[in-house]
Amino acid sequence: MTTPSHSHRGADEPISPPPGCPAHGLGPGGLRRLYGSEAESDLAGIYEKLRAEHGSVAPVLVHDDVPMWAVIGHTETLHMLRTRSHFTRDSRRMRVVQDGTFAPDNPLAPMVTWAPLISFAEGAEHQRVRGAINDALSTIDDRGLRRFIHRSSQRLVNEFCEKGTADLVSQFAEHLPMAVMCEVLGMPDEYNERLVQAGRDMTKGTATAVESNEYVMSVLYRHTARRRAQPEEDFTSRLIAHPAQLTDDEVAQNLRVVLIAAYEGTANLMANVLRMVLTDPRFRAQLNGGQMTVPEAIEQSLWDEPPMNAQVGYVATEDAELGGQRIKAGDGIMYVIAAGNLDPVIRPDLKASMAGNRAHLAFGGGPHECPGQDIARSIADVGVDALLMRLPDAELAVDEKELRWRQTLIARHLVDLPVMFTPRPPQDVKLRPTMGRVPSPRKEWEVSSPPPRPQATSPAAAVPAQASAAERSDQPLVATPPPSPTGEGERPKGALQRLLRWWRGY
Ligand code: HEM
Repeated sequence: MTTPSHSHRGADEPISPPPGCPAHGLGPGGLRRLYGSEAESDLAGIYEKLRAEHGSVAPVLVHDDVPMWAVIGHTETLHMLRTRSHFTRDSRRMRVVQDGTFAPDNPLAPMVTWAPLISFAEGAEHQRVRGAINDALSTIDDRGLRRFIHRSSQRLVNEFCEKGTADLVSQFAEHLPMAVMCEVLGMPDEYNERLVQAGRDMTKGTATAVESNEYVMSVLYRHTARRRAQPEEDFTSRLIAHPAQLTDDEVAQNLRVVLIAAYEGTANLMANVLRMVLTDPRFRAQLNGGQMTVPEAIEQSLWDEPPMNAQVGYVATEDAELGGQRIKAGDGIMYVIAAGNLDPVIRPDLKASMAGNRAHLAFGGGPHECPGQDIARSIADVGVDALLMRLPDAELAVDEKELRWRQTLIARHLVDLPVMFTPRPPQDVKLRPTMGRVPSPRKEWEVSSPPPRPQATSPAAAVPAQASAAERSDQPLVATPPPSPTGEGERPKGALQRLLRWWRGY
């Protein structure tokens, strides 16, 4: 790649000809910029221009006019991610990092600047850390996890169900993944508004991001030290006890990767799926008609609106050919999930349903493919299902055009999702989520809109929204024996109810 000359401005906004000018959005060397006002308003449009101009791999400029290759083809992305002989995540080998063009204060530094974390490790070192994380994740009991997600969802809905209005981004989608991940990590008492705020801050690049990162790290270091001294049945203790012998520093730093990757990706996924359900009548009709299960809806969303738009920080270790472009050893590479998922080679008709097809790039690919994707899917499945069951008449409280988005190179966030619904009393978090009748047997997580549940309208059924600490931690999520078919809490009465409860996992 010919590195264009650079003028480091140290500011986010590039100097650019005005909109309408053919050179608008172009930087040194005539390369398209993936930052600045044009990118903020229509990044997807820029990727389509790049596809028309260059094909599946295009030279681009990221923040501070740092040159990089953007891989926008589906096949080429998977090829790059899987060909470890030519491409690596070890960003120390990137020419722009070595020659200082990529400054330490570049907004993309957290994703590019090498650190001793799973995300940047390769080869044997990657296998060591990844092996420990995979082994610790594999001890999580899926059924117990689903029960916990369901109870947390009920608790969150209890917070706003009596009001008849809510913002499903800040009051639901951003809370549920943090509550679940705190439980998985074995620190349910650390789950609070401050941690959710800090996670939001860190991933959205706000002015207080550094302070929030310090707060999260202080929580994780404290938790690691506690579990080193006194192990319990949780992910963190498993990580510490693993034969990979991670140091406390490695444990805490990698817990941060897990916590933040899980939080940001899953919160975005849930917000996106809920928006689709609320705004696309065909989508909702399909769900209500039982033709589309929630997992299928989630997969469709992962194709059309991936929670992470792009991953920056890969490097060519050898001269290579990719998508017809000649990549030089040391060139920086990013893969654009949002563009690869829309590649006309694999999706000639974007309206065709992709529900149930998991070949999208939302979780990456190759050795660094997301190890937490099943947990993310469980949180979204159970959370969306539980919310729709509790508030079946929820509808958008504003015109769809008024919904606000925050677009960066890395992700596109829905800022809020205001809804209104019939006010309802809180529900016992331990009750199974029937709506007054036993739903018909259904395939997996299919959603229906049953009539309102009698208990839900009876004040006698209402319990305080906040669960006790004992309720929160009544069952460890790891290394538990298989739960009994009826589970804990209120014992469902009929055989069919017991079967359904067992089938749904809560
Ligand atoms: C919808 C939610 C999620 C999305 C969209 C997502 C997306 C991704 C992507 C694209 C990567 C690959 C990055 C690369 O190429 O370097 C990744 C890696 C990773 N994710 Fe996720 N993720 C999600 C949820 C989770 C969850 C729930 C966990 C943990 C329980 C998790 C833990 C990780 C870790 C540890 C890595 C680094 C893996 C490695 O470098 O080997 N993620 N994620």
